Amino acid sequence: MANIKFFSGKTTPIEMHRVRIIQKLNLLPIEERLEAIKQAGNNTFLLRNADVFLDMLTDSGVNAMSNDQEAAMMQADDSYAGSATFYRLEKALQHIFGMQYFLPAHQGRACEHILSKTFIKPGQVIPMNYHFTTAKAHITELGGKILEIPVKDAFEMTSTCPFKGNLDIDALKAAIAEYGKEGIAFVRMESGTNLIGGQPFSLENFQEVSAVCRAHGIPLVQDVSLLSDNLYFCKQREEKCKNMSIHEIALAMAEASDILYFSGRKLGFARGGGMCMNNREHYLNIRGFVPLYEGFLTYGGMSVREMEALAVGMYETLDEDVISQGPQFIEFMTNELVKLQIPVVTPPGGLGCHLNACSFLPHVPQTQYTAGALASALYLISGVRGMERGTMSEQRNEDGSEPLAHMELLRLAMPRRVFTMSQVVYAVDRLNWLYQNRNLVGGLQWLDEPKILRFFYGTLEPIGDWQQKLVAKFKADFGDSL
Ligand code: F0G
Repeated sequence: MANIKFFSGKTTPIEMHRVRIIQKLNLLPIEERLEAIKQAGNNTFLLRNADVFLDMLTDSGVNAMSNDQEAAMMQADDSYAGSATFYRLEKALQHIFGMQYFLPAHQGRACEHILSKTFIKPGQVIPMNYHFTTAKAHITELGGKILEIPVKDAFEMTSTCPFKGNLDIDALKAAIAEYGKEGIAFVRMESGTNLIGGQPFSLENFQEVSAVCRAHGIPLVQDVSLLSDNLYFCKQREEKCKNMSIHEIALAMAEASDILYFSGRKLGFARGGGMCMNNREHYLNIRGFVPLYEGFLTYGGMSVREMEALAVGMYETLDEDVISQGPQFIEFMTNELVKLQIPVVTPPGGLGCHLNACSFLPHVPQTQYTAGALASALYLISGVRGMERGTMSEQRNEDGSEPLAHMELLRLAMPRRVFTMSQVVYAVDRLNWLYQNRNLVGGLQWLDEPKILRFFYGTLEPIGDWQQKLVAKFKADFGDSL
């Protein structure tokens, strides 16, 4: 947001764009929402979007595109090999990150697959600030082990630490001393750390991580899917970055990395993905997997139209007015919930507003998927679709035991440039009602638990008849209001 002061003294997020295409929304009556969530096995991933009012599941592939992105799609050059579109995207990424090589892939997890294939030998360890679901699944699939070593504030639900995504440098040095260079495939840093509430790391911390990795010859891989939020937070919160442009911060982040990879469903407001690097040996080692798994080197599984949109979206990421919209709406929503004493992750991060499910529903144990139950309950009473980011999103240990998530969160994502303030106010209002009636909400148990990435398509049922009780109370309080 540009520097706009309000006469009232309020700090109100203000959009630096106007809406020119809209999509009609539908809010079903609560009885139909009850049926929809039952059909979805209480898994918000399995809801049909037509049954959803505000889709806060994710910001992945659902950020609104700009007129420039739409226009660029019209000049897409459709060819299997050597399309002009590819070279435009490559040029944009070279300019933004200052890295010579770009390898395309159809989305973020495809990069995780390829990087894991390239670098990981069974038994090797991958230190990181925190895992992401698909990154962990690919790493463990290939026999690697993740080692999470964030700073201790990372798991504090409420904190004043501006960079909860930072890595603990001493723990990194200790890991290198323990496993040696040979025992470590690479170090992975995730900007805008997804599963702990969209929390950033500082440029300073990242450069320290980089110095340690370089001193030991260990590749540093940065997952930049959520970089735009991280860039904004560095500019806002880090002394070192105050006088740097967003582009200068991005270049410094890239300079400290050996390999960058991203989900273009998040970074660049489009769809797709890819990997950037300067080291020719890395490039040659990774390259062969692109035509094998993704598509030819000049599209990597992406459509040319999406590649055009991505190239323009990448440039837009350097505009502070563009990248501030998400974090400022998230901050607004978080602060409104804090005023109502509803437990949320602070400081507000990127990606979305994160509710602390264990404090919201202290009577529902994590073994009954507290955040999953909260996601189901919120959809039922509001039509708002959030995403469970807690124990359900974990994978079982090899012995079948279940790791309880460090943070049991309900994430309400804020796709960029999509929602208006009144929609956020609606979500806050319904959350307030749910919090006042939280004692009615119970837990969930599996009906069908898939082995791989179970949270995506597993189905669950409520333990007891709490959903019927919640519907009855809603009807009593709201009458025939939707
Ligand atoms: N890395 C991060 C940090 C992500 O947030 C995601 C996706 C990926 C990698 C994988 O990228 O979906 O393009 O394959 N996050 C989505 C989300 C799914 O909703 O948080 P992808």
